[in-house]
Amino acid sequence: MSQLHLGVFDILTPNQMTQGLWAHPRNESHRYNTLPLWIEIAKLLERGKFDFIFFADSYGYPDNNAELALREAVYAPVADPMLLLSALAASTTHLGFVTTASPTFEQPFANARRFSTLDHLSEGRIGWNVVAAGGTSAAKAFGREDTLGHSERYDQADEFLEASYKLLEGSWQDDAVVRDKEKRLFADASKVHVVRHEGRYFKLEASHACEPSPQRTPVLFQAGSSERGRDFAAKHAEGVFLKAPTQEALRDQVADIRRRAEAHGRDPRDIKIFSGLSAIVGRSREEAQQKEAEYRAYRSREAALLTYANATGIDLDALDPDAPFTGISTERGRSHTERYTRHSGSVQTVRQVADNFADKEFRGIRLVGTPEEIADGMQEWAEATGIDGFNLERYLLTDTLRDFVDMVVPVLQERGLFRREYEESTLRERLFGAGNRRLPDRHPGAAFRNLAETDKAR
Ligand SMILES: Cc1cc2nc3c(=O)[nH]c(=O)nc-3n(C[C@H](O)[C@H](O)[C@H](O)COP(=O)(O)O)c2cc1C
Repeated sequence: MSQLHLGVFDILTPNQMTQGLWAHPRNESHRYNTLPLWIEIAKLLERGKFDFIFFADSYGYPDNNAELALREAVYAPVADPMLLLSALAASTTHLGFVTTASPTFEQPFANARRFSTLDHLSEGRIGWNVVAAGGTSAAKAFGREDTLGHSERYDQADEFLEASYKLLEGSWQDDAVVRDKEKRLFADASKVHVVRHEGRYFKLEASHACEPSPQRTPVLFQAGSSERGRDFAAKHAEGVFLKAPTQEALRDQVADIRRRAEAHGRDPRDIKIFSGLSAIVGRSREEAQQKEAEYRAYRSREAALLTYANATGIDLDALDPDAPFTGISTERGRSHTERYTRHSGSVQTVRQVADNFADKEFRGIRLVGTPEEIADGMQEWAEATGIDGFNLERYLLTDTLRDFVDMVVPVLQERGLFRREYEESTLRERLFGAGNRRLPDRHPGAAFRNLAETDKAR
């Protein structure tokens, strides 16, 4: 088995995957808006040789129950992770940083400038999680009635990426910057090209604001696991976050993404696939189980169900608990309805869905045990499904991460499953090997490198 890739999944808000856990006395997540906490975490992860830390982000919470959302800190308040990253880059040398920006709300020009700036400042350690986000409250925050429907949001994201590739890959030629003080020539204007994009959703005429950064296009991540989401991922993504209830379902999704990538003319190995991992580790199994019981005692069912309503638009508490959870459709995130319908194997009642969700929320694979047992579980899941790595999900900041770094990483290293030292410098090289700083030629973004030619033809 080849070596695993490891990331951490987090968000700048007190609760992440177990609503209520912010109140645990040892949880430092209430300091989510302070730099010292994240700098300590970034340094810890670099000591553990992690590939990256990933920050999810979205607009528009609280959606439909502000009193509960604010009382229990259900994804509210939430701060902007992008503004954290240059400080974390300055505190580390190797760790990668992935953050979220949604084509539903951003504009290609400003978004490309932000990511290029971060790619410069971090010397090539940046990734971008592209989310075709939906949601009425977020839309209203931007002066709109609603976002587009599910499938059209992916069309919008597709076009957003095309405009972004033109800016990031095509606008500046590699040798445009001369930086010659004696000649007083900073950049050669004949090698900086104006992007003219006019599509269904976006229009722009501009050259990219930034000179070429180490990776140009940041490493592209995607996390939608609906049919349309997977097709989008197979076309564009270099890192895919998948979640499935069973090994069989995950294996099928992995195979499906790789098959679709081939159909898009890509090499299936150009995509690294990650699953969420919630690991509770103890020096003995009893100690780990004790920790799990302690964490569970802080759970809030009402807050958990609110996160379900926010992600899907479905209020499970308002439905008949004995009714079958079938014929359900949503224009919001489909992964979270399909998890209980097409990926579930049997028909579930609304009560079963609510109980299951209140227990697991959005967590991925859950492992509880000794460092060896956690490593066994990771190995088994990776071998059975073909995933390339895991995204560690917090219970407590920073205990969960420290336990993993101190106890599980050494076992993975001992088994030859994880790096002992960092070797590559950029995030893309860390995932795909030295020399792969830029998008591969077979990636659809590479087709926009010849803007010089189209510009001249005008
Ligand atoms: C690991 C992971 C990270 C995610 N990060 C975000 C995020 O940062 N912002 C967001 O709005 N949605 C996030 N999501 C949700 C998905 O991007 C997606 O919107 C959701 O799964 C619904 O898409 P789908 O209908 O194509 O499945 C994340 C999902 C997963 C599994």
